[in-house]
Amino acid sequence: PVMNEVSGLRNLEEELKQKMQLQEVIIVPGDSDKAPYVKKEMGRACVSRLKKLDLSQNVIAVTGGTTLAAVAEMMTPPAHGEDILFVPARGGLGEQVENQANTICAKMARKASGDYRLLHVPDQLSEEAHQSLIEEPGVKEVLELIKSAGIVIHGIGDANTMAIRRKSSPEVIETLKAKHAAAEAFGYYFNQAGEVVHKVKTIGLQLQDLENCELVITVAGGSTKAKAIEAYMKRGLKNVLVTDEGAAKALLEGS
Ligand code: G3H
Repeated sequence: PVMNEVSGLRNLEEELKQKMQLQEVIIVPGDSDKAPYVKKEMGRACVSRLKKLDLSQNVIAVTGGTTLAAVAEMMTPPAHGEDILFVPARGGLGEQVENQANTICAKMARKASGDYRLLHVPDQLSEEAHQSLIEEPGVKEVLELIKSAGIVIHGIGDANTMAIRRKSSPEVIETLKAKHAAAEAFGYYFNQAGEVVHKVKTIGLQLQDLENCELVITVAGGSTKAKAIEAYMKRGLKNVLVTDEGAAKALLEGS
């Protein structure tokens, strides 16, 4: 039965890869909406995929969220003792501290026996304060490291869920609704066609920076996230998607 289950998932991976035109898909059993340990299994799968790379001298940019927190939880030191530097992909997005990229970045570094740099950018800044902050040498230095990241690991959220969780203003929630936002990833909101319809004002990694990365790992699962995953993946970037059976089946059932 174990073999059948494993080969069943491999078939599912192949189907999803074809349907969504992805470079690589890794599916773990279960549905993280129903069983929280499945998120940790996605974390474990992400970490083992990461370790297939030569991680020496690498800068890894990570985002926030509960899924990325599970990746951090499952992180272990690299096999060959490589030096890894972790940085948060973007500044504050309005998350609670345990879901913030900074927190996750520091935790990942500790688990990987690596190093980390943080980006201290408050969530609500005036244009003036924003401008002077990005001129600060300490902030500039971290921003350059972020731009140089060879690897990015990020989550995807359902647009509405994320806007509410981050306590976005009623105006923003209205805009997202009017523009049919479906997905959110590192502060960008996308409609079902994969177009950017809104962007949270913060500094750090920009969507176009992903094109220069050696590896982008997207970790997102749970059947309720299927629409969001589908929307984000319409962008056609060459990602590795780590997901779960719940999301994979919902994605394959959808039109
Ligand atoms: O940007 C996406 C969100 O960070 C995903 O959050 O992993 O808690 O669902 P989540």
